[in-house]
Amino acid sequence: MTPTVPTRKLGTTGPRVSALGLGCMGMSALYGAADRTESLATIHAALDAGVTLLDTGDFYGMGHNELLIGEALRSAPTAVRENALTSVKFGALRDPDGGWSGSDGRPEAVRNFAAYSLQRLGVDHIDVYRLARLDPDVPVEETVGAIADLVEKGHVRHIGLSEVGADTVRRAAATAPISDLQIEYSLMSRGIEAEILPTTRELGIGITAYGVLSRGLISGHFSLDRELSPGDFRSVSPRFQGDNLRHNLDLVERLRKIAEQKGATVAQIAIAWVLGGGAQPGDDIVPLVGARTRERLAESLGALDVTLDAADLAAIEAAVPADSAAGDRYPAAQMAHLDSEH
Ligand SMILES: NC(=O)c1ccc[n+]([C@@H]2O[C@H](COP(=O)([O-])OP(=O)(O)OC[C@H]3O[C@@H](n4cnc5c(N)ncnc54)[C@H](OP(=O)(O)O)[C@@H]3O)[C@@H](O)[C@H]2O)c1
Repeated sequence: MTPTVPTRKLGTTGPRVSALGLGCMGMSALYGAADRTESLATIHAALDAGVTLLDTGDFYGMGHNELLIGEALRSAPTAVRENALTSVKFGALRDPDGGWSGSDGRPEAVRNFAAYSLQRLGVDHIDVYRLARLDPDVPVEETVGAIADLVEKGHVRHIGLSEVGADTVRRAAATAPISDLQIEYSLMSRGIEAEILPTTRELGIGITAYGVLSRGLISGHFSLDRELSPGDFRSVSPRFQGDNLRHNLDLVERLRKIAEQKGATVAQIAIAWVLGGGAQPGDDIVPLVGARTRERLAESLGALDVTLDAADLAAIEAAVPADSAAGDRYPAAQMAHLDSEH
């Protein structure tokens, strides 16, 4: 297949990547069972279509996600594999029962995490490496400095950040070149607009946006009667509970009307809105779509053909105003770990 996905530079110092990235988390964890064969086929279909950015975390399924990506890369044609870029998060501490117990950003931990990731992915370098959640006991300069050492040695190409606030972005950028900040951004989660996005733009740092479909909530495919398995993040996410869910799905129906007028799907409108820079137009935001089937991937890629003009943006803003979502984006205990929310 001839690649059709346009590319964007990730920040002034980062790599050139596909304008849409594939977030592989849901193929291993957090959204209920996934089909392994379909997951591999989805990664291959994405690479064939010209998606070059594959996002993962070493803690997604405790290594499962990296092993899956490694297998997909090994079984892809050489030319396709050589274009693929890996974006890896590390630092989350897990336990055998699936629990989470904080974050480790110490330099010796950074080196340890990276050694295992390189092995599981089967690559000789990671393209963008980032701490998933700031470690409150380790200054960001130390963690970023340790990744910079890995860049120096050729094990990592670029340094990224994840879910940190504007002050931390500045401190990190004063330590070493930062390619991008990975953070939640969608019609439902607009927290970056006030301070974080102006800061990354000032510093020439790109954004890789996750939760662009608010974890499926604003995909147009979610419904009140959808049953979630106990390990599914959405079964504890405030936005997916009772009245919050009812309210949020009403917002989706407003978006659906706009989508129908544009001849697009709700998911495509939501992705296209982020692709265009959201409420502050620009081309520095790369949405990571969490497709885990070829069907969902094809729908997501369709967002690249959706153009939103000023009237469309105004209609979307009126349908889903900032702060109109009911419920926080994470349960309270997890919100407390987000440097970006303080
Ligand atoms: N840095 C961080 O803190 C952080 C946190 C979370 C995620 N991430 C990264 O960001 C990536 C994307 O996040 P996300 O999975 O929450 O994003 P998302 O795209 O908002 O949600 C993905 C969910 O939406 C549903 N969906 C429905 N229609 C879809 C469509 N057309 N295309 C794609 N998905 C559709 C899928 O459900 P079904 O499969 O059930 O249809 C899937 O479970 C993750 O894979 C991960 O790599 C980073």
